[in-house]
Amino acid sequence: MLPRGIIPLIGLRPVSLGIRPSFVCSSQRRELASAEVLPQLTKDRYPHVKRGEYAKLDQHHLGFFKDLLGPDRVITDPSDCEGFNVDWIRNVRGYSQCVLKPKTTEEVSKILSFCNDNRVAVCPQGGNTGLVGGSVPVFDEVVLWTGLMNNVMSIDETSGALVCQAGCILEHLDNQLAEKNLMMPLDLGAKGSCHIGGNVSTNAGGLRLLRYGNLHGTVLGVEAVKADGEIIDCLSTLKKDNTGYHLKHLFIGSEGTLGIITKIAIQCPPKPKAVNLAFLGLKSFENVLKILKKAKKDLGEILSSCEMIDESSLESVTENLKLKSPLSIHPFYMLVETHGSNKEHDEEKMNKFLEDVMEEGLALDGTTTNEPSKMKAIWDLRESITEGLMKDGYAFKYDISLPTKHFYSLVPVLRERVGDIAQRVCGYGHVGDGNIHLNVTTRKFSQEMLDKIEPFVFEYTSKLRGSVSAEHGIGFKKTKYVHFSKSKESIALMKKLKAMMDPNGILNPYKVLPC
Ligand code: FAD
Ligand code: MLT
Ligand code: ZN
Repeated sequence: MLPRGIIPLIGLRPVSLGIRPSFVCSSQRRELASAEVLPQLTKDRYPHVKRGEYAKLDQHHLGFFKDLLGPDRVITDPSDCEGFNVDWIRNVRGYSQCVLKPKTTEEVSKILSFCNDNRVAVCPQGGNTGLVGGSVPVFDEVVLWTGLMNNVMSIDETSGALVCQAGCILEHLDNQLAEKNLMMPLDLGAKGSCHIGGNVSTNAGGLRLLRYGNLHGTVLGVEAVKADGEIIDCLSTLKKDNTGYHLKHLFIGSEGTLGIITKIAIQCPPKPKAVNLAFLGLKSFENVLKILKKAKKDLGEILSSCEMIDESSLESVTENLKLKSPLSIHPFYMLVETHGSNKEHDEEKMNKFLEDVMEEGLALDGTTTNEPSKMKAIWDLRESITEGLMKDGYAFKYDISLPTKHFYSLVPVLRERVGDIAQRVCGYGHVGDGNIHLNVTTRKFSQEMLDKIEPFVFEYTSKLRGSVSAEHGIGFKKTKYVHFSKSKESIALMKKLKAMMDPNGILNPYKVLPC
């Protein structure tokens, strides 16, 4: 058996990797450095989107909010509002003059009932890490921030059911669960900032969907408040409950357009006793697919993640963020992780898998470890790509599902199409789930670049029967392109549902549904 630690597979030097703190986005700190350039206002960058006939904030509205929440939980100072108006990737910017910070479901209910009666538009916001412009106002919608709704109600150590308020930060939940040998069923680079309510509202996927499934499966129940203030209690903790329509699914992934999620019950798996991580360097995408197939077959029930990074994506973190890679430069990289319950058995399986992969020439180089700090350092390389790309200037982000054999095909096609006007065209993501993150970066936003990419990327995806949004959602930025992945009839039904649940259209207007 091979000794553990960082194990050189072929002549690799063990490299000491710096450990980064968990991702905390600036919106979490709720301040924008004054030197940072703000993006153009959304209303100016997208002039075809017109403000709806909503009320403009006045003293009557503010008086109501302050009576309900007290002055400290109604933010009106423009500089304090700024962090809530700009999304984390600096793509969009609204100009809300009011941020509300409720603590309870009843407060959310009273706010929405009042806003509905007075036609005040509302933008729900959690950790503000969303990547499609859904979490910030387009115009002057009032922001309803869930950060103070952060209580854990219960953890059932036998069933694994966790019940909590929507504003709990994903990583905090995971830390609390770890004390009981449980874990959250989802994990993503934004875990230090995103809220579980935001995760459920976007149906976030993340790094281990391959193993633990998506939130439509793991969320047991939700409590949500409709636009008129009515509280819908579907907060079941039961695994099996076929009593009529499963209303929770309406709120999962509807991005705050059908209701505000206030509480969540979620099924949490046991924390694995044995974790192994391999980081591999490869010469071709063809070999990425061969390794994926082999990992599924040979690692079977212990495979917990299978991610891909191309050379340019990794370069964005090694060059822009100065993170160190333990491998030399290769066209492609993969992270293959196992979660299991038997250390010896899992190590043996992983080692055999890696030996085979090297012997068959599928990987050129690699390293494997089960030391938490070293695994974290390798995961940091993958999870920091979003931030690394931002350092290029502006990132045009696409989050696409494609049939596996076409997974990487758009990257070279787009590289050719956009030519030298791009800083970088790269692809990385959840290859185990057929979900690639295709990114094009430029120094700053450019309409010329946008026109070169869109609708081309969506047409290409649609022709291959892919999805134009695999996990980030539609938000503000993709409403025009929903039809590439949804039929006319499906869109019509979605609009009818919206009209029924939010007849005045006060909840997150201009998002998800095409105008
Ligand atoms: P926000 O950004 O605040 O909101 C997202 C949407 O949900 C908005 O439309 C908002 O109006 C709505 N919303 C928020 N809270 C509520 C609520 N309580 N009720 C109703 N509506 C609400 N996404 C993935 O799927 N997989 C990944 O691997 C992944 N990795 C990421 C890595 C980084 C570094 C970053 C910056 C983002 C990543 N994302 C990923 C995108 C993002 O983190 C997720 O979409 C996340 O789930 C958003 O949570 P949030 O609390 O930040 O929500
Ligand atoms: C990821 O998987 O890293 C995220 O979804 C974020 C991104 O697309 O940049
Ligand atoms: Zn992702």
